[in-house]
Amino acid sequence: MNASAPLGVFDSGVGGLTVVRALRELLPNESIVYLGDTARLPYGSKSPDTIRRFAVEDTQFLLRHEVKAVVVACNTATAHALPHLQKTFRMPIIGVVEPGVEATLSDPNSQRVGIIATSGTIRSCAYQHALAMQRPDLIAEAKPTPLLVPFIEEGWIDHPALKSVLREYLKPMLDRGIDTLVLGCTHYPLLVPVLKRMLGNKVRLVDSASTCAAHVKRTLEAEGLLRTAKGKPTLEIHLTDYSEQFEALAHRFLGAEFGRIKKAVL
Ligand code: DGL
Repeated sequence: MNASAPLGVFDSGVGGLTVVRALRELLPNESIVYLGDTARLPYGSKSPDTIRRFAVEDTQFLLRHEVKAVVVACNTATAHALPHLQKTFRMPIIGVVEPGVEATLSDPNSQRVGIIATSGTIRSCAYQHALAMQRPDLIAEAKPTPLLVPFIEEGWIDHPALKSVLREYLKPMLDRGIDTLVLGCTHYPLLVPVLKRMLGNKVRLVDSASTCAAHVKRTLEAEGLLRTAKGKPTLEIHLTDYSEQFEALAHRFLGAEFGRIKKAVL
């Protein structure tokens, strides 16, 4: 494995860029190859077998770009495919659920936690089980929120329709007094501004992006894979289907140079 090789990151769409942003903040010297499988989005409504197959194909695509490690920047793919990927490929592969759980448990005062994620992630019970293992006293309430990803991919991240969907989804858990809301989908950090306005500071918002970046850093350090080269690191974005909304959102969210988006053929 070559330390000057890029990191590979994949998601079904724009959500994984929330992890890319955290990676660029913590590991500014790393080059990144990003794959958004926009042609087959959403992953959240697909069966575990299909998600595993997509995750293997996404990883193979990144391997063809000679990445030194893969970040599965998608909770649905992490929940259903991470152990399978780790068994299949001989390179560091890091997911987002364990970092998300770690971030949730970083406040020992949390008592009642709401978890929102895709239907696939909620059905896998990945968050519910991991939280119950480490904090059996914690009350966790999970809610699939499948309408959010299409809004986000459309760039409607501050639209009145989105706000009313969010209110509908969150009302029951807010009525029961959650103190923490886990954003169990990498798309959802794009909703942090609107969620903050809706929830004020009564509810702590947790996502896995920065904790995931910290896991990646520890892994690269342990494997001697941190990039030490002096040249400017690069960020390449590949999509299985081009979308203007993706490009606009990516520029707005990353505020970074990534050149022309490339067409990915898996
Ligand atoms: N961003 C993904 C996740 O974290 C997947 C969203 C989707 O494609 O449904 O689950």
